[in-house]
Amino acid sequence: EVAAEIPVIVAKTHLSVGIEEFTVRAPVVAASAQAGQFVRVLPTPDGELIPLTLADWDAAAGTITLVVQAMGTSTLGLNQMQVGQALAGVAGPLGRPSELHHYGADDTVVFTAGGLGLPPVYPIMREHLRLGNHVTLISGFRSADLMFWDGEDERVGRIQAEFGELLDVIYATNDGSYGIQGFVTSPLEEMLKANQEGKGRRIAEVVTIGPPMMMRAVSDLTKGYGVPTVASLNSIMVDATGMCGACMVPVTEDGKLVRKHACIDGPEIDSHAIDWDKFLPRFGLFRSQEQASRVRHGF
Ligand code: FES
Repeated sequence: EVAAEIPVIVAKTHLSVGIEEFTVRAPVVAASAQAGQFVRVLPTPDGELIPLTLADWDAAAGTITLVVQAMGTSTLGLNQMQVGQALAGVAGPLGRPSELHHYGADDTVVFTAGGLGLPPVYPIMREHLRLGNHVTLISGFRSADLMFWDGEDERVGRIQAEFGELLDVIYATNDGSYGIQGFVTSPLEEMLKANQEGKGRRIAEVVTIGPPMMMRAVSDLTKGYGVPTVASLNSIMVDATGMCGACMVPVTEDGKLVRKHACIDGPEIDSHAIDWDKFLPRFGLFRSQEQASRVRHGF
């Protein structure tokens, strides 16, 4: 029985350049996980903590799915681990679950996912679909060769087959090698404009997950149209303990500027309340190298 708790890697799939998907035995996490939550992974006893948003879980099988992009020594080491090896530790589920509202199929909840934003988006949009909400996924990648999960028997393909007309998927690539050429903001802007003219499904809310520059662009756009928008800031966490301060977000609350920790108060934060002018440069100081890596792989 004790052995079942050891976080052994039971499956591994190569998704894209530097990006691996792991299925890990973690029955306690899998039994209580909710959409939007994350885990803290310790790959080796002498390694560093890595916060990773749950990309999926299976309570019956007692497993969780994690998608890892190699960005530094720790994630590079983790991505080199193989099936049969055990992680030193997995703690969770952590963070506040996504707030879910019932809108029905006449409205739509729009998810804008940039590159590696797709795995954390997936369980949240699935939860909306299970609630009977219509979902529009705008999934952006730099180019077609960096895309993943889009095949028929892969996650986005499978969920499309399962929920049919309840889910619209729009792909955008920087170079136009697949789907619409441009950023995730282009189709979103079209939908917002149509709404303004009383056309299309009313956008009830927008959820954005991806590199900060993309989330800011989405947030600025929806603010102009008054559409509630949530940014999931999992990508800025470093240790997810509330101690390192890397995930601090300047947020305006009741007219006052306060600091929130993405790893404690989030990962989802009202994006229109974020002071992006203060937030983005600070992020650059901490994570310029990682950001460069993300820009190479996502948006
Ligand atoms: Fe270190 Fe939140 S990630 S304090």
